[in-house]
Amino acid sequence: MDNINIKVKVNGKRVESAVEPRKLLVHYLREDLGLTGTHVGCDTSNCGACTVLVDGKAVKSCTMLAAQVDGKEVTTIENLSSGGKLHPIQEAFLEKHGLQCGYCTSGMIMTSFWLLSRNKNPTEEEIRRSLSGNLCRCTGYQSIVDSITYASKLMKADEAEKEGIMVEQ
Ligand code: FES
Ligand code: FES
Repeated sequence: MDNINIKVKVNGKRVESAVEPRKLLVHYLREDLGLTGTHVGCDTSNCGACTVLVDGKAVKSCTMLAAQVDGKEVTTIENLSSGGKLHPIQEAFLEKHGLQCGYCTSGMIMTSFWLLSRNKNPTEEEIRRSLSGNLCRCTGYQSIVDSITYASKLMKADEAEKEGIMVEQ
């Protein structure tokens, strides 16, 4: 079958590619664009290691074809830090030991990013519910939940700082 031409915005950059119709989004990101921060844990939509944002919504990129993101915007873990500075969610995972082997981490962080973009003050229950599609073999989850709670505090402090308000962490 002929390749399909797609135009997609990836991490803010416009990309045009010719992709095999059967190519999964996760393989397009990793193999064609070299964005290997997105991991493949299962390839069967169970683990969430491959989570990215498509038009701002968290999606398991092994459940989509590359051809389906034609005309859309994709954000991967590589786009979170800026100017050499970690994103507050990344900082929080480091600080609160939200990772061990790190295999699930980019997916956990992208899911957290989506959660915190919709809910700045998630409860522990809301965090656990939002992570229901992301598996970790190492941490036992509590440190991941603690990391996301801490990330929400860091993000609020960042916002307050921009507005010139002091916030206790
Ligand atoms: S690799 Fe996509 S859900 Fe596991
Ligand atoms: S840190 Fe190892 S799988 Fe989550």
